[in-house]
Amino acid sequence: MELKIAVLAGDGIGPEISAVGVNVMSAVCRKFGHSVTYEYAICGAEAIERVGDPFPESTYEACRRADAVLFSAVGDPKYDNDPTARVRPEQGLLAMRKKLGLFANIRPVQTFRCLLHKSPLRAELVEGADFICIRELTGGMYFGEKYQDNDRAYDTNLYTRPEVERILKVAFEYAMKRRRHLTVVDKANVLASSRLWRQIAREMAPQYPEVTTDYMYVDNAAMKMIQEPRFFDVMVTENTFGDILTDEGSCISGSMGLLPSASTGESTPVFEPIHGSWPQAKGLNIANPLAQILSVAMLFEHFNLKEEGALVRKAVDASLDANVRTPEIQVEGGKHYGTKEVGEWITDYIDRH
Ligand code: IPM
Ligand code: MN
Repeated sequence: MELKIAVLAGDGIGPEISAVGVNVMSAVCRKFGHSVTYEYAICGAEAIERVGDPFPESTYEACRRADAVLFSAVGDPKYDNDPTARVRPEQGLLAMRKKLGLFANIRPVQTFRCLLHKSPLRAELVEGADFICIRELTGGMYFGEKYQDNDRAYDTNLYTRPEVERILKVAFEYAMKRRRHLTVVDKANVLASSRLWRQIAREMAPQYPEVTTDYMYVDNAAMKMIQEPRFFDVMVTENTFGDILTDEGSCISGSMGLLPSASTGESTPVFEPIHGSWPQAKGLNIANPLAQILSVAMLFEHFNLKEEGALVRKAVDASLDANVRTPEIQVEGGKHYGTKEVGEWITDYIDRH
């Protein structure tokens, strides 16, 4: 297969983990005889500094030309602490989602046996937890009408039927491929938008008779994720709820540095770690590259390249088992490995297997 990848490294630790992701991708392609080419493009704070736009047209075009985007992270504290900043790096992320029509954000929550002790939850509770959260990504309050003056402000949580139907379809289909259990998360006891979601989900459920569909209020879901994470298989929810629940989900694993995500929709799909740009660690060679590497696995799997994805996952598991780990998940007294060294170990493993 011929793969054309747009590489958007972004800010902070982005460039370091991006380089590792690219190396892993190339190693797998070499092994399986795929040809891969990369087109690098700017985004986030770097793009604001260079061209005044966190998702410039040239980057959009590079994404459109590509089969997939390998994205890393955007964000810079310079903008966080400046309430007068006119443009922010995060706007680049939102622009990318909207312009590429990335309405479905797939965020898996998985545990790694050897890291169970890192979870803030008791190991016996999280062991075997394995679910995915499907977050609607281009609608709701993030993109609805907004207003702000000195005394009044609002954000509109608008959803239309086609928007809800297409994301629920993705969710039902994921459930069919997994353990056939879908949880629709909403706040239908209070919000009209949620009642529409629930109504449409009830209309669609009979088309998927093998799937057990249940409906859960978001407050209850937040609690259930902590009390009984193994309950979930696939959950689907609107943009804002999904933002919050996926941060909660990410800490079940024990390290945010481990979780990848995929965003798919109308145009080129994007694969990225769920963690941010961690500016304090920039250039220190301490960031965990595993989430970026696992994003590469998701990329292969998206194109139905299952063996390729499986090899990446196997290499990641092997690195953890061999204690080749970045500092935040290192076992006491273990040897120190940096971002680069973990990447090299994994690339080497791929070459040899
Ligand atoms: C995420 C992030 C973004 C979001 C921010 C950076 C705009 O938190 O991808 O979850 O809220 O969607
Ligand atoms: Mn978030």
